[in-house]
Amino acid sequence: MTTTPDDATLFTLDRTRADLMEVDAVFRACLNWDYGERNNRIWSLYEKNKTAQWNAATDIDWDYDVRFGAELQDEHSAGVASFVVGNDSPVPRELLNQFRWEYQAWMVSQFLHGEQGALVATARLVETVPDMEAKVYAASQVADEARHVEAYARYIDEKLGVSYPINPGLKALLRDLLAESEWDIVYLGMQVIVEGLALAATRLASSGFGDPIITSITRMIARDEARHIAFGTVSLNGMYEDMTSAEMNRREEFLLEAIHLMSRRFLLREVWERMDLDVERGLRFARTDPMMYGYRQLLFQQVIHILRQLGLLSPKLRDLFLAESLARPEAFHGMP
Ligand SMILES: [Fe+2]
Ligand SMILES: [Fe+2]
Repeated sequence: MTTTPDDATLFTLDRTRADLMEVDAVFRACLNWDYGERNNRIWSLYEKNKTAQWNAATDIDWDYDVRFGAELQDEHSAGVASFVVGNDSPVPRELLNQFRWEYQAWMVSQFLHGEQGALVATARLVETVPDMEAKVYAASQVADEARHVEAYARYIDEKLGVSYPINPGLKALLRDLLAESEWDIVYLGMQVIVEGLALAATRLASSGFGDPIITSITRMIARDEARHIAFGTVSLNGMYEDMTSAEMNRREEFLLEAIHLMSRRFLLREVWERMDLDVERGLRFARTDPMMYGYRQLLFQQVIHILRQLGLLSPKLRDLFLAESLARPEAFHGMP
C-alpha cells in the first residue's frame, strides 16, 4: 500500500511522540492594512533588534573545551554553590562540585525550554496583535528566539552532554500561554513573566557559571531579552486603564496561576532528585534558606516592577508574592 505525506496513520504516529507537546488553541489572526501610523517606541526597538543581531554559529568560541564534572575553581563555584551551602556547616567539596555542574545543566536546560516557548508564543503574537509595528517587532523577536534556542541547544549537546527535561511549572505555564486566545495575556505570560524572570536569572547566572562559553552566550542573550521585555511593557502600556472588572479579573487569575507555577520552579526538585539527595530536605532548604529566597526575590523584582507600571499589581497578587516569599513587604510601598 502506498502512503502519502498526509496519510492519517503517519499523522497519528507523529502525534504520539513523547517529546512533542501539543496545545490546541482558538485565536483570531489579523491583518492590518494601515501601514502609516507607528508607535515610535516600538519601531525604535525594532531598529535596535535589526542592528543587534548576532550569529550563534560564529560569535561564540565553540572550540573551548568544557568538561562536565571537572573540578571547579572556588571563585567560579562561589556564586552558585552558595545556594546549596547556605549557612550550614561546610559541604564536602566533591558534592559541591557535583551540585554546581548539575545546577548549571538544569538552569541552561530550563533556559533552553523557555526559549522555545518564547519562539512559539512570539510567533503567535505576529498573527494576533493588531498593530503593524508590533507584528514586525514580534517577527524580529522570533528570529532572536530561534538564535537563543540554537545557542543553548548546541551548548548542551556539544559542551555539557547533560540535560534536564522541562520543569513541570514552566511546562504548565507554556501550555496555558499557548492555549490562550487573548493576545495581551500571551504578552503578560511571555514578555512579562517568563522573560522577566529569565532576564534576571540570566544576568545572575552569567556571573556564576564557570566556563567562558556559557558566560558569553548568556550575556548576549540577556541584551536581546532586555529589548523583548521593553517591547512587552510598551505594547501593554495603557491597555488596562479602560478594561471592565470582569476582563481585569481574568488577567489577575492568569497572573496568580503563572506566578504560583513559577515560584515552584526555583526549588530545584529535579536537581535534588538527580543527585540522589534527600528531596524533601532539598526542597525545605530551597524554600527557607535566606540565600535561596533572596535569589527568588531578586528574580521577581523586575516582574513586580512591570506589573506595577501596567496597573496590574492587585492586592491579591501582592498577597501571593508575600505568601510565597517572592518579595519583601517594602516592594509594595504605597499600595492600599
Ligand atoms: Fe530568548
Ligand atoms: Fe526573549
